[in-house]
Amino acid sequence: MSDFKVRLQKKAQFVNETLRRILDHQEIYGDLKEAIRYTLESPGKRVRAVLLLWCCELVGGRTNHNAEMASAAIEMVHTYSLIHDDLPAMDDDDMRRGLPTCHKAFDEATAILTGDALLTLAFEILAKEIDSPAVAVRLIRQLAEDAGASGMIAGQMADLRAQEFTGTKEILEYIHVHKTAKMFRCAAAMGAICGGATQEQLDCLGEYGLRMGLAFQIADDILDETASSEQLGKTAGKDLKAAKCTYPAVVGLETARTLQEQVTSEAVAVLKPFGKKADVLREFAQVLLQRTK
Ligand code: IPE
Ligand code: IPE
Ligand code: MG
Ligand code: MG
Ligand code: MG
Repeated sequence: MSDFKVRLQKKAQFVNETLRRILDHQEIYGDLKEAIRYTLESPGKRVRAVLLLWCCELVGGRTNHNAEMASAAIEMVHTYSLIHDDLPAMDDDDMRRGLPTCHKAFDEATAILTGDALLTLAFEILAKEIDSPAVAVRLIRQLAEDAGASGMIAGQMADLRAQEFTGTKEILEYIHVHKTAKMFRCAAAMGAICGGATQEQLDCLGEYGLRMGLAFQIADDILDETASSEQLGKTAGKDLKAAKCTYPAVVGLETARTLQEQVTSEAVAVLKPFGKKADVLREFAQVLLQRTK
C-alpha cells in the first residue's frame, strides 16, 4: 500500500474512534441505539470526515478538538443521507457498505428514525462540543445550508424527479452538485473554519471540495455500471434499471471518464495558493479519481 493510502486509512480509523467514543457517551433509546451503531460503525470510507480534518490541518497546522467533533458530525449527516437514500421510497437498495441496509436489517420505521436521529445528533454534537460559540454557529450554519433544502436534499429531490424524464447535462450537473458535491464543499469549509482560515482560504478550500465532490459522484455513477456489487458493497447496475440521470447515461462512459478527470484537475488547480502544503489534498483528489469502491 502506498504511503498516502496508509495515511488515509489511519485518518479514517481516527474518525471511527471518534464516532465510537461519541456513541459510547450518548444516551439513546434501546432499538435505536442498535440501529445507529449498526449504520454509523459500518465500514464507510469516511472521505468527507477525513477531508474536513486535512483542511483543518492545512490552514491551522494540526487537527483540533473542534475538527474532530465536526468530522463526526458530517459523517453522521452523510450516514443518515445513505439510510434514507436506500429506503424503498427512494432508491430501494438492499445492501450498503457490504451489509444489509438499515431497513433490511431492522425495519423501515426504524431506518427512518435512525436517519432522523443521526441528523439531529450531528447538530447536537456541534452545539455542545465546539469550544467557541462563534465557531459553533458558523459550523452549524455551513452544515445546515449544504445538507439542507438548497443543498443535499435539493439534489436528492431532483435525482428522484429526474427518473421520470430524460435528463439533460444541465439537470445532471444540478443533481450531482447538490446531492453530493455540496457535502464535500461543506466538509472542506468546516475543516477550514475549525483551523481558523481566512475568508480567502475558506473560499478556496470550499471550491476544491465542490469540484472533488462532483468528480466523486461521477465516479460513483461510473462504478455503478462497471464494478461488481461485491467490490462496491452495494448493488451494482441499479442506476440503469431505475432510469437514473447519471453521467454514463447522459454522456456515455468515455465522456464521463474524461469529465471526471477534468473536474479533478480543476480541483487540484484551485489549491495553487497553498503551494506544496496542499500536496495531501492533491493526492487525495487523484486517489479518489482512481477509486474502485
Ligand atoms: C456514497 O458515498 C454516496 C455518494 C454520494 C456517492 P460514499 O461512497 O462516500 O459512501 P461510504 O460512506 O463510503 O459508504
Ligand atoms: C446518493 O447518490 C447521494 C446521497 C446524497 C446519499 P446515489 O444514490 O448514487 O448513492 P449510492 O449509489 O446509493 O451510494
Ligand atoms: Mg440516490
Ligand atoms: Mg442510492
Ligand atoms: Mg450511486
